[in-house]
Amino acid sequence: MLSAPSEASPAASAPSPFERLGGAPVFEAIAARFYDLMDTDPAYARLRAMHAADLARVRASLPRFLAGWAGGPRDWFEENPGRCMMSLHSAMPIDAETAGQWAEAMERAIADVAPQPSLIAASMSDTLARLARGMAR
Ligand code: HEM
Repeated sequence: MLSAPSEASPAASAPSPFERLGGAPVFEAIAARFYDLMDTDPAYARLRAMHAADLARVRASLPRFLAGWAGGPRDWFEENPGRCMMSLHSAMPIDAETAGQWAEAMERAIADVAPQPSLIAASMSDTLARLARGMAR
């Protein structure tokens, strides 16, 4: 038997972190700030050097990945079936320094965009920084 709407679990109807943080414009702003920092701040020079000269592809891809990861539209995942972020990066020579640069640039990007609610933004910032540091070998 189908559940009546009132019996639906709260989790099924709760807005996702993606929605609560402001949706696509906020995720686009975070990714844009992240790559601007990486591209211009010498503190991220080693991380920048690992990327292609033209950042257009990752600038388009990261906000769409983050959107799906945070419970929003899953276009990136549908276009990349079975593609896993950890295995995608496992072929890259990521060490503690470059992982730390990624983590710090992302923490700064989220702090600069300052989405609300700030507790959810802080939680996303911490999780992404830990994910990045976990990619170091
Ligand atoms: C730990 C440090 C990391 C380094 C050094 C790194 C480096 C890279 C590099 C070199 C690329 C290919 C870029 C190009 O072709 O120019 C890439 C792609 C990408 N990275 Fe990372 N990355 C890191 C962590 C992360 C994390 C934590 C995430 C997300 C949670 C992430 C998300 C992505 C995405 C979405 C792409 C594009 C994938 C695609 O659509 O093809 N990266 N990364």
